[in-house]
Amino acid sequence: MKEVVLSINKLTKHYGQVKAVQSLELDIHKGDIYGILGPNGSGKSTTLGMLLDVINPTSGGYTWFGQEPTHESRKKIGSILEHPLFYPYLTAIRNLRLVAAIKQTPYKEIDNILKQVGLFERRHSKFRTYSYGMRQRLALAAALLGNPEVLILDEPTNGLDPQGIAEIRELITKVAAQGITIILASHLLDEVQKTCSHVAVLENGKKLFSGNVSEVLNETVQIEVSSADLETLKTAINTIEFVKSYKQEENILLVRLDDKNTVHDLNKCLFEKGIILNHLSQRKKTLEKYFLELLENS
Ligand SMILES: Nc1ncnc2c1ncn2[C@@H]1O[C@H](COP(=O)(O)OP(=O)(O)OP(=O)(O)O)[C@@H](O)[C@H]1O
Ligand SMILES: [Mg+2]
Repeated sequence: MKEVVLSINKLTKHYGQVKAVQSLELDIHKGDIYGILGPNGSGKSTTLGMLLDVINPTSGGYTWFGQEPTHESRKKIGSILEHPLFYPYLTAIRNLRLVAAIKQTPYKEIDNILKQVGLFERRHSKFRTYSYGMRQRLALAAALLGNPEVLILDEPTNGLDPQGIAEIRELITKVAAQGITIILASHLLDEVQKTCSHVAVLENGKKLFSGNVSEVLNETVQIEVSSADLETLKTAINTIEFVKSYKQEENILLVRLDDKNTVHDLNKCLFEKGIILNHLSQRKKTLEKYFLELLENS
């Protein structure tokens, strides 16, 4: 089992009547790219703010690297807030030197990091001349100074055009490949689906669901079956052990199986019970449908 980097324990934040975060529980392991997914106002930024110690929890807490947060553990965490702040009239390199000084890390890292985020050629341009995409990449560069073990990103692609979005996503994947754990808040399902290994879905400050992104996709494979006599089919399906559940949609049945069994197994088993199917196909739910359903049912 991989090392637990962050363990969140009943973390709660109320603003007067507003329950921004409610008793959140979550474990994040080394190397995860963990997406915190939820609609506007679901408590994503509040959660990240508490993890970064800029917002005081109402109750509950968390441990970083198995310990109560300390000044030392903070140094292992890099972050970008929604609107990165840099001095507009200073160049990229001068801005990063200021960040390096605050973080007490050597300037010599700066060039490499600028290369990593693709801004080395533009290092002497003033920040105010940077495009939104470049600004966001500079923010990532600042977060990467000091060799953090964890990166916390709040809506990293907000306000970017498709190319800028693709660049930031590629960069996140590259950073994660170095073994840095990433926690990323997003209201974009597509972003989480494309970049994250794990996801926690929030709504109204409550966790609706969390898990491995690919497992979520597998778990939601449903098989459509139908035959001339639907009642006989139902009776047969009821006797199959590896069927987890099924439901009827008009004249077809939507069946979920154990992880170990496939469409082939189902077909074979029904055939052995004397049932000839006139329809058999797989319906793979996307995380999107799953997400929307979760929100509808909550
Ligand atoms: N400083 C504050 N004072 C009062 N209420 C707040 C404060 N900050 C956040 N809230 C409320 O807490 C709830 C969660 O807000 P939060 O910013 O964490 O959501 P979010 O998921 O990050 O949303 P978005 O996708 O819009 O960034 C919202 O109802 C918001 O209005
Ligand atoms: Mg937010």
